[in-house]
Amino acid sequence: MTLIQTEHQNPASKIKREPSGIPGLDEIISGGFPKGSITLISGPPGSGKSILCTQYLYQGIKEGQKCLFLTLDKKVEGLLSQTEELGMDFQPAIDKGQIKFLFLNINKKLIYETMTNEILSGEYDRIVLDSITPISEMPIYIKNPEITDNINIINPDEFATGQDFPIKRLHLHYIMNALETSNCTSLVTSELPPSSNNLSRDGLSEFLADAVIILTYDSTMDRRKLTVMKMRSTKHTLKPQDIQIGYQGLKLV
Ligand SMILES: Nc1ncnc2c1ncn2[C@@H]1O[C@H](COP(=O)(O)OP(=O)(O)O)[C@@H](O)[C@H]1O
Ligand SMILES: [Mg+2]
Repeated sequence: MTLIQTEHQNPASKIKREPSGIPGLDEIISGGFPKGSITLISGPPGSGKSILCTQYLYQGIKEGQKCLFLTLDKKVEGLLSQTEELGMDFQPAIDKGQIKFLFLNINKKLIYETMTNEILSGEYDRIVLDSITPISEMPIYIKNPEITDNINIINPDEFATGQDFPIKRLHLHYIMNALETSNCTSLVTSELPPSSNNLSRDGLSEFLADAVIILTYDSTMDRRKLTVMKMRSTKHTLKPQDIQIGYQGLKLV
């Protein structure tokens, strides 16, 4: 793992960092994402969330790590052709088994089992979940022996029996817990409506994640920004940073 010395970095820090793969980003976050952390990447459609995440995993491959990309979007091929245009060819790593792109079908009851089994396999150093929004909004299927032996379908806005928090929060807890337990360093994306002031679509993920990065754009000015809103154990600026997406991907400028 590479360590970049920056003015924001405490030389005595024992925290290991995972380089982000985004040119310019490591310099403002003490060398990379804290190892074992969960970072929420929030932004409206087209703001660069998926590109940032693929660059993060591409960096992982360069570091010789094992990577997992969990996607709720059926168009894995579309994603791969977009990344190829940006100079990242994942095919050799896919063929070697160094990275797995796994499509999670939101309509399948066992989506949680599929997802958590994969996350908790302990095989991965870097995991991306793109995105958490459809999961946080879908009805939850839980097996609660206190209610019934059958799998129940509960509306995400209802309260779970015997619990004092909405089921929606439980969803996010399941996922974040699995990621935390796995010891991998992960990125989770959240879809924000354009011009939203929230940090995530569900209003909860930002509290469960260790770090939050917001991607925005100003279409009138044709400008893109990246803001580090929070990052555990890291001294960072809150100032929005200018970014560009070009043929070499997303970078700070
Ligand atoms: N080859 C490219 N060159 C320049 N910009 C690109 C390229 N590919 C994608 N983009 C920009 O990135 C956007 C898609 O980024 P993406 O990460 O998929 O967004 P999100 O996941 O936030 O919806 C496109 O709408 C386009 O503006
Ligand atoms: Mg996307």
